[in-house]
Amino acid sequence: MADAPKLGFGPFAAPAKLGPSGVLIVFCDDALKFGPATRAALGSASGLVARAAKAERFTGKNGSALELIVPEGLKAARLVVIGTGKTADLKAKDFVKLGGLALGKLPVSASEATVFAELPKGAMKPGQAADLAFGASLRAYAFDRYKTKRKDDEKPPASRSVTVAVGDVAGARKAYESRAAIAGGVLTARDLVNEPANVLYPEEFARRTLALKKSGVAVEVLDVKAMEKLGMRALLGVGQGSSRESRVVVMRWNGGRKADAPLAFIGKGVCFDTGGISIKPAASMEDMKGDMAGAACVVGLMQALAARKAKVNAVGVIGVVENMPDGNAQRPGDIVTSMSGQTIEIINTDAEGRLVLADVIWYAAQRFKPKFIVDLATLTGAIIVALGQEYAGMFANDDKLAERLTKAGEDTGEKVWRMPLAPEYDKMIDSKFADMKNTGGSRWGGAITAAQFIKRFVDDKTPWAHLDIAGTGFDSRHNDINKSWGSGWGVRLLDRLVQDYYEK
Ligand code: BES
Ligand code: MN
Ligand code: ZN
Repeated sequence: MADAPKLGFGPFAAPAKLGPSGVLIVFCDDALKFGPATRAALGSASGLVARAAKAERFTGKNGSALELIVPEGLKAARLVVIGTGKTADLKAKDFVKLGGLALGKLPVSASEATVFAELPKGAMKPGQAADLAFGASLRAYAFDRYKTKRKDDEKPPASRSVTVAVGDVAGARKAYESRAAIAGGVLTARDLVNEPANVLYPEEFARRTLALKKSGVAVEVLDVKAMEKLGMRALLGVGQGSSRESRVVVMRWNGGRKADAPLAFIGKGVCFDTGGISIKPAASMEDMKGDMAGAACVVGLMQALAARKAKVNAVGVIGVVENMPDGNAQRPGDIVTSMSGQTIEIINTDAEGRLVLADVIWYAAQRFKPKFIVDLATLTGAIIVALGQEYAGMFANDDKLAERLTKAGEDTGEKVWRMPLAPEYDKMIDSKFADMKNTGGSRWGGAITAAQFIKRFVDDKTPWAHLDIAGTGFDSRHNDINKSWGSGWGVRLLDRLVQDYYEK
Protein backbone atom coordinates (compact mmCIF):
# COMPACT_ATOMS: atom_id res chain seq x y z
CA MET A 1 0.00 0.00 0.00
CA ALA A 2 1.16 3.52 -0.65
CA ASP A 3 2.25 5.61 2.29
CA ALA A 4 0.59 8.95 2.67
CA PRO A 5 2.99 11.80 2.31
CA LYS A 6 6.34 11.73 0.62
CA LEU A 7 7.20 14.94 2.43
CA GLY A 8 9.53 15.34 5.36
CA PHE A 9 7.32 14.85 8.40
CA GLY A 10 5.47 15.94 10.52
CA PRO A 11 4.82 18.78 8.25
CA PHE A 12 3.77 21.37 10.78
CA ALA A 13 5.97 23.70 12.78
CA ALA A 14 5.94 27.20 14.13
CA PRO A 15 7.38 29.75 11.68
CA ALA A 16 11.18 29.57 11.83
CA LYS A 17 14.11 30.82 9.83
CA LEU A 18 14.79 29.02 6.61
CA GLY A 19 18.27 27.97 5.45
CA PRO A 20 19.91 29.75 2.51
CA SER A 21 19.00 26.97 0.05
CA GLY A 22 15.36 26.91 1.14
CA VAL A 23 12.22 27.92 -0.69
CA LEU A 24 9.78 30.23 1.07
CA ILE A 25 6.16 30.00 -0.04
CA VAL A 26 3.63 32.61 1.07
CA PHE A 27 0.07 33.60 0.18
CA CYS A 28 -1.47 36.95 -0.66
CA ASP A 29 -4.98 37.98 -1.65
CA ASP A 30 -6.14 39.92 -4.68
CA ALA A 31 -5.18 43.20 -3.00
CA LEU A 32 -1.63 41.79 -2.72
CA LYS A 33 -2.01 41.82 1.06
CA PHE A 34 -0.04 39.52 3.35
CA GLY A 35 -0.70 38.38 6.90
CA PRO A 36 1.37 39.74 9.81
CA ALA A 37 3.72 36.76 10.21
CA THR A 38 4.34 36.72 6.48
CA ARG A 39 5.09 40.46 6.47
CA ALA A 40 7.55 39.94 9.30
CA ALA A 41 9.25 37.09 7.44
CA LEU A 42 9.51 39.11 4.24
CA GLY A 43 10.95 42.10 6.07
CA SER A 44 12.81 44.37 3.73
CA ALA A 45 12.02 42.13 0.77
CA SER A 46 8.41 43.39 0.69
CA GLY A 47 9.36 46.32 -1.54
CA LEU A 48 10.95 43.92 -3.99
CA VAL A 49 7.79 41.82 -4.05
CA ALA A 50 5.67 44.87 -4.84
CA ARG A 51 7.98 45.85 -7.72
CA ALA A 52 8.11 42.29 -9.07
CA ALA A 53 4.32 42.03 -8.90
CA LYS A 54 4.00 45.16 -10.98
CA ALA A 55 6.60 44.03 -13.50
CA GLU A 56 4.91 40.63 -13.83
CA ARG A 57 1.34 41.98 -13.69
CA PHE A 58 0.77 39.63 -10.78
CA THR A 59 -2.52 40.57 -9.13
CA GLY A 60 -2.98 37.81 -6.57
CA LYS A 61 -5.68 36.06 -8.58
CA ASN A 62 -6.53 32.64 -7.13
CA GLY A 63 -4.04 30.06 -8.33
CA SER A 64 -1.55 32.53 -9.83
CA ALA A 65 2.04 32.72 -8.61
CA LEU A 66 4.98 35.08 -8.54
CA GLU A 67 8.50 33.72 -8.18
CA LEU A 68 11.63 35.55 -7.08
CA ILE A 69 15.06 33.95 -7.20
CA VAL A 70 17.60 34.84 -4.48
CA PRO A 71 15.58 37.87 -3.38
CA GLU A 72 17.59 40.65 -1.80
CA GLY A 73 16.96 40.92 1.93
CA LEU A 74 15.83 37.30 2.33
CA LYS A 75 17.90 34.33 3.30
CA ALA A 76 15.89 31.96 1.08
CA ALA A 77 17.09 30.88 -2.35
CA ARG A 78 13.63 31.41 -3.75
CA LEU A 79 10.44 33.13 -2.77
CA VAL A 80 7.09 32.04 -4.17
CA VAL A 81 4.04 34.21 -3.67
CA ILE A 82 0.78 32.43 -4.41
CA GLY A 83 -2.43 34.35 -5.00
CA THR A 84 -5.58 33.23 -3.22
CA GLY A 85 -7.99 35.71 -4.79
CA LYS A 86 -10.77 36.84 -2.45
CA THR A 87 -10.11 34.98 0.78
CA ALA A 88 -13.76 35.06 1.88
CA ASP A 89 -14.60 32.77 -1.06
CA LEU A 90 -12.11 30.04 -0.13
CA LYS A 91 -13.55 26.58 0.56
CA ALA A 92 -11.84 23.43 1.84
CA LYS A 93 -11.14 22.18 -1.68
CA ASP A 94 -9.44 25.49 -2.50
CA PHE A 95 -6.94 25.04 0.32
CA VAL A 96 -6.23 21.53 -0.95
CA LYS A 97 -5.58 22.99 -4.40
CA LEU A 98 -3.36 25.75 -3.01
CA GLY A 99 -1.29 23.12 -1.19
CA GLY A 100 -0.84 21.22 -4.43
CA LEU A 101 0.07 24.39 -6.25
CA ALA A 102 2.63 25.26 -3.57
CA LEU A 103 4.32 21.89 -3.85
CA GLY A 104 4.37 22.22 -7.62
CA LYS A 105 6.37 25.43 -7.32
CA LEU A 106 9.32 23.60 -5.78
CA PRO A 107 12.16 23.10 -8.24
CA VAL A 108 13.22 19.44 -8.50
CA SER A 109 16.43 20.29 -6.70
CA ALA A 110 14.78 21.87 -3.65
CA SER A 111 15.46 19.98 -0.44
CA GLU A 112 13.90 22.39 2.01
CA ALA A 113 10.78 24.53 1.89
CA THR A 114 8.49 26.37 4.24
CA VAL A 115 4.90 27.21 3.41
CA PHE A 116 3.40 30.02 5.50
CA ALA A 117 -0.15 28.95 6.33
CA GLU A 118 -1.42 32.47 6.65
CA LEU A 119 -4.00 34.69 4.98
CA PRO A 120 -4.03 38.51 5.16
CA LYS A 121 -6.33 38.46 8.16
CA GLY A 122 -4.11 36.03 10.06
CA ALA A 123 -3.25 32.38 10.60
CA MET A 124 -5.17 29.75 8.64
CA LYS A 125 -7.41 27.53 10.75
CA PRO A 126 -5.90 24.12 11.64
CA GLY A 127 -8.19 22.40 9.12
CA GLN A 128 -7.15 24.82 6.39
CA ALA A 129 -3.44 24.35 7.11
CA ALA A 130 -4.02 20.59 7.13
CA ASP A 131 -5.78 20.88 3.76
CA LEU A 132 -2.67 22.60 2.36
CA ALA A 133 -0.54 19.65 3.50
CA PHE A 134 -3.15 17.23 2.11
CA GLY A 135 -3.01 18.86 -1.32
CA ALA A 136 0.78 18.91 -1.22
CA SER A 137 0.98 15.20 -0.42
CA LEU A 138 -1.40 14.35 -3.29
CA ARG A 139 0.64 16.50 -5.67
CA ALA A 140 3.93 14.95 -4.54
CA TYR A 141 2.94 11.51 -5.83
CA ALA A 142 4.68 10.21 -8.92
CA PHE A 143 4.52 6.71 -10.36
CA ASP A 144 8.14 6.33 -11.36
CA ARG A 145 9.10 2.84 -10.26
CA TYR A 146 9.81 1.75 -13.83
CA LYS A 147 12.01 4.74 -14.70
CA THR A 148 15.60 3.56 -14.46
CA LYS A 149 17.41 6.11 -16.56
CA ARG A 150 16.71 9.44 -14.94
CA LYS A 151 19.54 11.93 -15.11
CA ASP A 152 20.91 13.30 -11.85
CA ASP A 153 19.41 16.73 -12.41
CA GLU A 154 15.97 15.19 -12.90
CA LYS A 155 16.09 13.42 -9.57
CA PRO A 156 14.73 15.03 -6.43
CA PRO A 157 17.12 15.10 -3.45
CA ALA A 158 17.15 11.96 -1.32
CA SER A 159 15.33 13.73 1.44
CA ARG A 160 13.06 16.69 1.09
CA SER A 161 11.53 18.53 3.99
CA VAL A 162 8.43 20.62 3.43
CA THR A 163 7.19 22.44 6.49
CA VAL A 164 3.83 24.11 6.83
CA ALA A 165 4.37 26.97 9.24
CA VAL A 166 1.36 27.44 11.50
CA GLY A 167 0.54 29.06 14.82
CA ASP A 168 -1.45 26.15 16.23
CA VAL A 169 0.94 23.29 15.51
CA ALA A 170 -0.90 20.73 17.64
CA GLY A 171 -4.25 21.67 16.08
CA ALA A 172 -2.90 21.34 12.56
CA ARG A 173 -1.27 17.98 13.31
CA LYS A 174 -4.52 16.68 14.71
CA ALA A 175 -6.50 17.92 11.72
CA TYR A 176 -3.97 16.33 9.39
CA GLU A 177 -4.31 12.81 10.82
CA SER A 178 -7.51 11.93 8.98
CA ARG A 179 -6.30 13.67 5.84
CA ALA A 180 -3.07 11.65 5.83
CA ALA A 181 -5.23 8.53 6.03
CA ILE A 182 -7.25 9.65 3.03
CA ALA A 183 -4.15 10.67 1.07
CA GLY A 184 -2.74 7.19 1.68
CA GLY A 185 -5.90 5.69 0.21
CA VAL A 186 -5.79 7.93 -2.86
CA LEU A 187 -2.15 7.04 -3.51
CA THR A 188 -2.87 3.33 -3.17
CA ALA A 189 -5.66 3.65 -5.73
CA ARG A 190 -3.35 5.55 -8.09
CA ASP A 191 -0.62 2.92 -7.74
CA LEU A 192 -3.07 0.14 -8.60
CA VAL A 193 -4.40 1.97 -11.68
CA ASN A 194 -0.94 2.89 -12.95
CA GLU A 195 0.50 -0.59 -12.56
CA PRO A 196 0.67 -2.48 -15.89
CA ALA A 197 -1.43 -5.60 -16.41
CA ASN A 198 1.55 -7.95 -16.75
CA VAL A 199 2.37 -7.05 -13.15
CA LEU A 200 -1.12 -6.50 -11.76
CA TYR A 201 -3.19 -9.50 -12.82
CA PRO A 202 -6.15 -10.63 -10.70
CA GLU A 203 -4.24 -12.83 -8.25
CA GLU A 204 -1.62 -10.16 -7.69
CA PHE A 205 -4.32 -7.52 -7.24
CA ALA A 206 -5.95 -9.73 -4.60
CA ARG A 207 -2.58 -10.33 -2.93
CA ARG A 208 -1.98 -6.58 -2.62
CA THR A 209 -5.27 -6.05 -0.81
CA LEU A 210 -3.97 -8.27 2.00
CA ALA A 211 -1.87 -5.31 3.13
CA LEU A 212 -5.10 -3.82 4.49
CA LYS A 213 -5.12 -6.45 7.21
CA LYS A 214 -2.48 -4.64 9.19
CA SER A 215 -4.80 -1.66 9.67
CA GLY A 216 -7.62 -3.88 10.89
CA VAL A 217 -9.54 -4.66 7.70
CA ALA A 218 -10.75 -8.26 7.39
CA VAL A 219 -9.81 -9.45 3.89
CA GLU A 220 -11.18 -12.59 2.22
CA VAL A 221 -10.23 -13.76 -1.24
CA LEU A 222 -12.63 -15.98 -3.19
CA ASP A 223 -10.93 -18.20 -5.77
CA VAL A 224 -12.49 -19.73 -8.89
CA LYS A 225 -13.71 -22.78 -7.03
CA ALA A 226 -15.48 -20.70 -4.43
CA MET A 227 -17.06 -18.54 -7.13
CA GLU A 228 -18.20 -21.60 -9.05
CA LYS A 229 -19.86 -22.89 -5.93
CA LEU A 230 -21.68 -19.57 -5.51
CA GLY A 231 -22.79 -19.68 -9.13
CA MET A 232 -20.99 -16.56 -10.32
CA ARG A 233 -21.13 -17.62 -13.95
CA ALA A 234 -21.47 -14.05 -15.27
CA LEU A 235 -18.18 -13.00 -13.70
CA LEU A 236 -16.39 -16.26 -14.45
CA GLY A 237 -17.45 -16.12 -18.10
CA VAL A 238 -15.53 -12.87 -18.51
CA GLY A 239 -12.34 -14.35 -17.09
CA GLN A 240 -12.48 -17.71 -18.84
CA GLY A 241 -10.38 -16.63 -21.84
CA SER A 242 -7.50 -15.50 -19.66
CA SER A 243 -4.64 -17.63 -18.41
CA ARG A 244 -4.94 -15.62 -15.20
CA GLU A 245 -7.55 -16.81 -12.73
CA SER A 246 -10.35 -14.51 -11.58
CA ARG A 247 -10.78 -13.43 -7.99
CA VAL A 248 -13.32 -11.70 -5.79
CA VAL A 249 -12.03 -9.81 -2.77
CA VAL A 250 -14.19 -8.96 0.24
CA MET A 251 -12.88 -6.28 2.61
CA ARG A 252 -14.64 -5.44 5.86
CA TRP A 253 -14.05 -2.53 8.19
CA ASN A 254 -16.14 -2.58 11.36
CA GLY A 255 -15.69 0.76 13.09
CA GLY A 256 -19.37 1.32 13.79
CA ARG A 257 -21.98 -0.15 16.10
CA LYS A 258 -22.28 -3.89 15.96
CA ALA A 259 -25.93 -3.90 14.91
CA ASP A 260 -25.51 -1.34 12.14
CA ALA A 261 -25.85 -2.59 8.58
CA PRO A 262 -22.68 -1.87 6.62
CA LEU A 263 -22.27 0.50 3.70
CA ALA A 264 -21.31 -1.49 0.61
CA PHE A 265 -18.81 -0.30 -1.99
CA ILE A 266 -18.44 -2.43 -5.10
CA GLY A 267 -15.75 -2.08 -7.76
CA LYS A 268 -15.17 -3.28 -11.31
CA GLY A 269 -11.68 -4.73 -11.42
CA VAL A 270 -10.90 -5.65 -15.02
CA CYS A 271 -7.10 -5.79 -14.88
CA PHE A 272 -6.99 -5.64 -18.64
CA ASP A 273 -9.84 -5.28 -21.11
CA THR A 274 -8.95 -6.37 -24.64
CA GLY A 275 -12.65 -6.60 -25.41
CA GLY A 276 -12.34 -10.41 -25.62
CA ILE A 277 -13.58 -12.01 -28.85
CA SER A 278 -15.33 -8.69 -29.67
CA ILE A 279 -11.81 -7.32 -29.64
CA LYS A 280 -11.07 -3.62 -29.30
CA PRO A 281 -9.15 -1.60 -31.92
CA ALA A 282 -5.42 -1.14 -31.14
CA ALA A 283 -5.57 2.64 -30.63
CA SER A 284 -5.28 3.47 -26.91
CA MET A 285 -5.87 -0.14 -25.91
CA GLU A 286 -3.00 0.26 -23.44
CA ASP A 287 -5.33 2.45 -21.37
CA MET A 288 -7.34 -0.66 -20.59
CA LYS A 289 -4.82 -1.55 -17.88
CA GLY A 290 -6.80 1.05 -15.96
CA ASP A 291 -10.10 -0.79 -16.35
CA MET A 292 -9.85 -1.72 -12.68
CA ALA A 293 -10.06 1.89 -11.43
CA GLY A 294 -13.38 1.19 -9.70
CA ALA A 295 -11.86 -1.67 -7.71
CA ALA A 296 -8.76 0.43 -6.99
CA CYS A 297 -10.98 3.16 -5.54
CA VAL A 298 -12.75 0.68 -3.29
CA VAL A 299 -9.41 -0.62 -1.96
CA GLY A 300 -8.14 2.94 -1.42
CA LEU A 301 -11.36 3.87 0.35
CA MET A 302 -11.20 0.87 2.68
CA GLN A 303 -7.59 1.76 3.47
CA ALA A 304 -8.57 5.35 4.25
CA LEU A 305 -11.54 4.38 6.44
CA ALA A 306 -9.43 1.96 8.45
CA ALA A 307 -6.45 4.27 8.75
CA ARG A 308 -8.57 7.08 10.15
CA LYS A 309 -10.57 4.61 12.25
CA ALA A 310 -13.88 5.74 10.76
CA LYS A 311 -16.84 5.13 13.06
CA VAL A 312 -18.76 3.17 10.47
CA ASN A 313 -19.24 -0.36 9.21
CA ALA A 314 -18.21 -0.67 5.59
CA VAL A 315 -17.66 -3.51 3.20
CA GLY A 316 -15.77 -3.35 -0.07
CA VAL A 317 -16.30 -6.08 -2.65
CA ILE A 318 -14.39 -6.16 -5.93
CA GLY A 319 -14.55 -8.50 -8.90
CA VAL A 320 -11.11 -8.90 -10.40
CA VAL A 321 -10.72 -10.49 -13.83
CA GLU A 322 -8.89 -10.20 -17.13
CA ASN A 323 -10.86 -10.03 -20.40
CA MET A 324 -8.87 -11.84 -23.11
CA PRO A 325 -9.59 -13.51 -26.48
CA ASP A 326 -8.62 -17.17 -26.50
CA GLY A 327 -9.78 -20.60 -27.60
CA ASN A 328 -11.57 -20.86 -24.31
CA ALA A 329 -12.95 -17.33 -24.31
CA GLN A 330 -16.64 -16.54 -24.08
CA ARG A 331 -18.39 -16.05 -27.45
CA PRO A 332 -21.05 -13.61 -28.62
CA GLY A 333 -24.30 -15.55 -28.41
CA ASP A 334 -23.29 -17.49 -25.31
CA ILE A 335 -25.87 -17.52 -22.54
CA VAL A 336 -24.73 -17.51 -18.91
CA THR A 337 -26.64 -17.86 -15.66
CA SER A 338 -25.69 -15.22 -13.12
CA MET A 339 -25.57 -15.86 -9.37
CA SER A 340 -29.00 -14.19 -9.11
CA GLY A 341 -30.44 -16.93 -11.33
CA GLN A 342 -31.17 -14.48 -14.16
CA THR A 343 -29.80 -15.51 -17.55
CA ILE A 344 -27.77 -13.23 -19.80
CA GLU A 345 -27.16 -13.47 -23.52
CA ILE A 346 -23.71 -12.17 -24.38
CA ILE A 347 -24.04 -9.94 -27.44
CA ASN A 348 -20.68 -8.23 -27.14
CA THR A 349 -17.85 -9.66 -25.04
CA ASP A 350 -16.50 -6.10 -24.63
CA ALA A 351 -19.49 -5.22 -22.44
CA GLU A 352 -17.84 -7.25 -19.66
CA GLY A 353 -17.81 -4.87 -16.71
CA ARG A 354 -21.57 -5.14 -16.15
CA LEU A 355 -21.23 -8.95 -16.09
CA VAL A 356 -18.65 -8.73 -13.33
CA LEU A 357 -20.73 -6.23 -11.37
CA ALA A 358 -23.91 -8.28 -11.74
CA ASP A 359 -22.44 -11.09 -9.65
CA VAL A 360 -20.48 -9.07 -7.08
CA ILE A 361 -23.37 -6.70 -6.40
CA TRP A 362 -25.77 -9.61 -5.98
CA TYR A 363 -23.33 -11.41 -3.72
CA ALA A 364 -22.69 -8.36 -1.52
CA ALA A 365 -26.41 -7.60 -1.20
CA GLN A 366 -27.30 -11.18 -0.20
CA ARG A 367 -24.49 -11.58 2.24
CA PHE A 368 -24.35 -8.19 3.94
CA LYS A 369 -27.85 -6.64 3.60
CA PRO A 370 -26.15 -3.26 3.32
CA LYS A 371 -27.59 0.16 4.16
CA PHE A 372 -26.74 1.23 0.63
CA ILE A 373 -24.72 0.08 -2.36
CA VAL A 374 -22.40 2.33 -4.32
CA ASP A 375 -20.65 0.74 -7.27
CA LEU A 376 -17.83 2.25 -9.28
CA ALA A 377 -16.82 1.13 -12.74
CA THR A 378 -14.96 2.31 -15.82
CA LEU A 379 -18.01 0.99 -17.58
CA THR A 380 -18.69 2.77 -20.85
CA GLY A 381 -17.06 4.94 -23.48
CA ALA A 382 -20.52 6.47 -23.84
CA ILE A 383 -20.27 8.25 -20.49
CA ILE A 384 -17.12 9.99 -21.76
CA VAL A 385 -19.04 11.11 -24.84
CA ALA A 386 -21.77 12.48 -22.57
CA LEU A 387 -19.77 14.13 -19.78
CA GLY A 388 -16.12 14.27 -20.81
CA GLN A 389 -13.63 13.90 -17.99
CA GLU A 390 -14.97 16.51 -15.53
CA TYR A 391 -17.92 14.68 -14.03
CA ALA A 392 -18.49 11.00 -13.42
CA GLY A 393 -21.90 9.72 -14.45
CA MET A 394 -24.20 8.83 -11.57
CA PHE A 395 -27.27 6.61 -11.79
CA ALA A 396 -29.35 6.04 -8.68
CA ASN A 397 -32.60 4.50 -7.49
CA ASP A 398 -32.66 6.78 -4.44
CA ASP A 399 -32.85 10.59 -4.42
CA LYS A 400 -31.34 11.02 -0.97
CA LEU A 401 -28.24 9.00 -1.78
CA ALA A 402 -27.92 10.82 -5.11
CA GLU A 403 -28.15 14.23 -3.44
CA ARG A 404 -25.58 13.29 -0.84
CA LEU A 405 -23.16 12.10 -3.48
CA THR A 406 -23.72 15.26 -5.49
CA LYS A 407 -22.96 17.40 -2.44
CA ALA A 408 -19.87 15.36 -1.50
CA GLY A 409 -18.74 15.77 -5.11
CA GLU A 410 -19.04 19.53 -4.99
CA ASP A 411 -17.20 19.70 -1.69
CA THR A 412 -14.27 17.56 -2.79
CA GLY A 413 -14.14 18.50 -6.46
CA GLU A 414 -14.75 14.87 -7.48
CA LYS A 415 -18.01 15.74 -9.15
CA VAL A 416 -20.87 13.49 -10.24
CA TRP A 417 -23.72 14.26 -12.62
CA ARG A 418 -26.96 12.37 -12.32
CA MET A 419 -28.19 10.56 -15.41
CA PRO A 420 -31.63 9.07 -16.01
CA LEU A 421 -32.98 5.56 -15.53
CA ALA A 422 -36.35 4.62 -17.06
CA PRO A 423 -38.36 1.56 -18.11
CA GLU A 424 -38.01 2.57 -21.77
CA TYR A 425 -34.24 2.13 -21.52
CA ASP A 426 -34.65 -1.06 -19.56
CA LYS A 427 -36.64 -2.59 -22.43
CA MET A 428 -33.62 -2.11 -24.69
CA ILE A 429 -31.77 -4.94 -22.93
CA ASP A 430 -34.52 -7.55 -23.23
CA SER A 431 -33.20 -10.58 -25.11
CA LYS A 432 -34.73 -12.93 -27.66
CA PHE A 433 -33.23 -15.96 -25.94
CA ALA A 434 -32.48 -15.10 -22.30
CA ASP A 435 -33.74 -12.84 -19.52
CA MET A 436 -31.57 -10.02 -20.81
CA LYS A 437 -28.69 -9.23 -23.13
CA ASN A 438 -25.50 -7.45 -22.21
CA THR A 439 -25.77 -4.50 -24.61
CA GLY A 440 -28.56 -2.22 -25.71
CA GLY A 441 -28.22 -3.10 -29.37
CA SER A 442 -27.30 0.41 -30.52
CA ARG A 443 -24.69 2.83 -29.19
CA TRP A 444 -27.33 5.38 -28.27
CA GLY A 445 -27.67 5.88 -24.55
CA GLY A 446 -24.90 3.35 -23.99
CA ALA A 447 -24.08 4.48 -20.45
CA ILE A 448 -27.76 4.31 -19.54
CA THR A 449 -28.44 0.83 -20.88
CA ALA A 450 -25.34 -0.33 -18.99
CA ALA A 451 -26.76 1.16 -15.79
CA GLN A 452 -30.15 -0.43 -16.48
CA PHE A 453 -28.40 -3.76 -16.76
CA ILE A 454 -26.78 -3.36 -13.35
CA LYS A 455 -30.09 -2.21 -11.88
CA ARG A 456 -31.54 -5.64 -12.65
CA PHE A 457 -29.22 -7.04 -9.99
CA VAL A 458 -30.22 -4.60 -7.24
CA ASP A 459 -33.45 -4.93 -5.30
CA ASP A 460 -35.58 -1.78 -5.30
CA LYS A 461 -35.53 -1.46 -1.52
CA THR A 462 -31.77 -1.06 -1.25
CA PRO A 463 -30.59 2.48 -2.02
CA TRP A 464 -28.10 2.15 -4.83
CA ALA A 465 -25.89 4.44 -6.89
CA HIS A 466 -23.75 3.47 -9.84
CA LEU A 467 -20.83 5.71 -10.74
CA ASP A 468 -19.52 5.35 -14.29
CA ILE A 469 -15.93 6.56 -13.93
CA ALA A 470 -14.67 5.73 -17.42
CA GLY A 471 -13.83 9.42 -17.91
CA THR A 472 -12.39 10.19 -14.49
CA GLY A 473 -10.58 7.04 -13.28
CA PHE A 474 -7.56 7.77 -15.41
CA ASP A 475 -6.70 11.02 -16.99
CA SER A 476 -3.69 12.41 -18.82
CA ARG A 477 -4.78 16.00 -18.20
CA HIS A 478 -3.09 16.68 -14.91
CA ASN A 479 -4.18 19.23 -12.30
CA ASP A 480 -2.87 20.97 -9.20
CA ILE A 481 -3.24 17.95 -6.94
CA ASN A 482 -2.57 15.17 -9.41
CA LYS A 483 0.26 14.61 -11.83
CA SER A 484 -0.46 10.93 -12.24
CA TRP A 485 -2.42 9.13 -14.97
CA GLY A 486 -4.21 6.93 -12.47
CA SER A 487 -6.17 9.62 -10.63
CA GLY A 488 -7.33 7.75 -7.54
CA TRP A 489 -10.73 9.28 -8.33
CA GLY A 490 -13.53 8.54 -5.88
CA VAL A 491 -11.61 7.91 -2.67
CA ARG A 492 -12.02 11.50 -1.51
CA LEU A 493 -15.62 11.64 -2.72
CA LEU A 494 -16.73 8.50 -0.90
CA ASP A 495 -14.75 9.25 2.23
CA ARG A 496 -16.58 12.58 2.40
CA LEU A 497 -19.93 10.86 1.87
CA VAL A 498 -19.17 8.55 4.78
CA GLN A 499 -17.81 11.33 7.03
CA ASP A 500 -20.67 13.73 6.44
CA TYR A 501 -23.67 11.41 6.59
CA TYR A 502 -22.93 8.01 8.09
CA GLU A 503 -20.51 8.54 10.96
CA LYS A 504 -22.63 10.17 13.61
N1 BES B 1 -13.79 -0.67 -20.18
C1 BES B 1 -14.65 -0.30 -21.25
C2 BES B 1 -15.14 1.15 -21.15
C3 BES B 1 -14.08 2.22 -21.22
C4 BES B 1 -13.76 2.79 -22.43
C5 BES B 1 -13.47 2.66 -20.08
C6 BES B 1 -12.81 3.79 -22.49
C7 BES B 1 -12.53 3.67 -20.14
C8 BES B 1 -12.20 4.23 -21.34
C9 BES B 1 -15.87 -1.22 -21.26
O1 BES B 1 -15.66 -2.51 -20.83
C10 BES B 1 -16.33 -1.31 -22.67
O2 BES B 1 -15.60 -1.83 -23.47
N2 BES B 1 -17.52 -0.79 -22.95
C11 BES B 1 -18.05 -0.81 -24.26
C12 BES B 1 -19.48 -1.27 -24.17
C13 BES B 1 -20.10 -1.61 -25.49
C14 BES B 1 -19.45 -2.83 -26.09
C15 BES B 1 -21.58 -1.82 -25.31
C16 BES B 1 -17.96 0.60 -24.82
O3 BES B 1 -18.11 1.55 -24.09
O4 BES B 1 -17.70 0.71 -26.02
MN1 MN C 1 -14.99 -3.77 -22.37
ZN1 ZN D 1 -14.10 -2.79 -19.52
